[in-house]
Amino acid sequence: MSTASTPAIVFDQLTKSYSSAGDAPQSALGPLTGTIEQGSFVSLVGPSGCGKSTALKLIAGLLTPSSGNVSVHAKNDLSYVFQDATLMPWASVFDNVYLPFKLAGVPRAVIEEEVMASLDRVGLADRAQAFPRELSGGMKMRVSIARALITDPKVLLMDEPFAALDEFTREKLDDELLDLWRAQKWTVLFVTHSIYESVYLSQRVMVLSQNPGQLIGDVQVDAPYPRGQAFRESTVYFEACRAVSAAMRGGPPGFSSANAEAHSR
Ligand SMILES: Nc1ncnc2c1ncn2[C@@H]1O[C@H](COP(=O)(O)OP(=O)(O)O)[C@@H](O)[C@H]1O
Ligand SMILES: [Mg+2]
Repeated sequence: MSTASTPAIVFDQLTKSYSSAGDAPQSALGPLTGTIEQGSFVSLVGPSGCGKSTALKLIAGLLTPSSGNVSVHAKNDLSYVFQDATLMPWASVFDNVYLPFKLAGVPRAVIEEEVMASLDRVGLADRAQAFPRELSGGMKMRVSIARALITDPKVLLMDEPFAALDEFTREKLDDELLDLWRAQKWTVLFVTHSIYESVYLSQRVMVLSQNPGQLIGDVQVDAPYPRGQAFRESTVYFEACRAVSAAMRGGPPGFSSANAEAHSR
């Protein structure tokens, strides 16, 4: 196993402002500076509207920074999972995963095996011919994940992927995601507004402040994987949840001195 840490994503004084008609531009994010290591599982948490989705879109190149810069080590190996599964209702599960390739002109026969392998990874190979309306919310999300995984990404950006699901399904998908991450060694940046989910999943939780989103906490979750019910009941889990929660409320613990300094300006 490699112990050298290589950056996967580097933020350098990154900011984003939006301007709506006639109004002065409103700062939505940053300045954000920091590094996400290759192969790590990092969550980004913060209140609604603090710029989490904006951060992911900037990383993916779907938005342009207003100032500063974000660099991604594996820019062409990046996948994005959106909050709603965004499946085409008129297309089968298979076709929903195949669609990006179809649009790129790849013949079905060339990619069929990989589509099925990707569906198999999320446990849906036997539902390939089903339509989205026949699937539960959790299954739809798994199709969306299969679609993101088919390109064998190095970096996976996930924007509140399980937020609309019931708690039981969410916990199950959290565990499935962790199993895949451990097998595939991606870098995952996972956006959630759930403190509990962020701590359960991550090695590191980055906490953003409200308006504009700035890093106000950076909490390491030092616990091995696989994590399970025992972890949810552990002191490490409890302490990390407390640190993230305190950071969100704007106080210690969970502050590094650098963050505290930046925050007190
Ligand atoms: N396209 C846009 N035009 C104008 N304002 C936007 C746009 N997208 C997001 N915003 C604003 O930027 C802020 C951050 O939004 P967003 O990144 O979606 O936050 P989050 O994902 O944390 O809920 C919010 O105040 C939101 O209203
Ligand atoms: Mg969002």
